[in-house]
Amino acid sequence: MTQFFTIAIDGPAGAGKGTLARRLADHYRLNLLDTGLTYRAVAYALLRLGLPLDNVSAAETAARQVDLAKLDRAVLSAHAVGEAASKIAVFPTVRRILVEKQRDFARTPPGAVLDGRDIGTVVCPDADIKLYVTASAEVRAQRRLAEIESIGGTANFAEILADIQRRDERDMGRTDSPLKPAADAHLLDTSEMAIEAAFLAAMSVIDDVLAKRNKA
Ligand code: DC
Repeated sequence: MTQFFTIAIDGPAGAGKGTLARRLADHYRLNLLDTGLTYRAVAYALLRLGLPLDNVSAAETAARQVDLAKLDRAVLSAHAVGEAASKIAVFPTVRRILVEKQRDFARTPPGAVLDGRDIGTVVCPDADIKLYVTASAEVRAQRRLAEIESIGGTANFAEILADIQRRDERDMGRTDSPLKPAADAHLLDTSEMAIEAAFLAAMSVIDDVLAKRNKA
């Protein structure tokens, strides 16, 4: 039976929420939106035009032009684009434009998994299930290092860790829609948990909510 529902996943960079979101969307046959890509698309547009990242009106124009069907992960996943995205994400007007698009996406049947920083708190405060996925900064840095090394690259652990801590500070410290768990979010700490275990834990929370809803 297909039923409409929304899963909101928030958490800091590198906690594994992207992979978890993809697994859950596949399993429950829901649409999937990585909202980080929408902020990255705005940042990428400014970088490509050589504009400063504090040019709010250019960022607003770029935000209006974001087409959720055309987000190119291969281009947008570059590290520098993520950094820049975190900087343009502080502008309330830019956020408002992107949040509208994200809400339209969430309303589209059969429902969706959205992952980001403010999904449970701002974008979909009525989501059926809210997950807050986290891991210690050290574990996240270690994972990123392993990822870089697995494709033949080299990197410095201390630099990656400092980078992650800077990004956390910016995402958690901004005034508009800071990263924080919604009051009714289920916390999943993946520091000592493989992705499969996180997936099983999330599934058990979700199946529980769906079972209660179907009984009601
Ligand atoms: O998840 P990510 O690394 O692709 O996100 C890039 C940046 O975009 C992140 O550092 C902050 C911003 N972002 C946000 O402010 N709100 C969201 N819902 C998603 C991302």
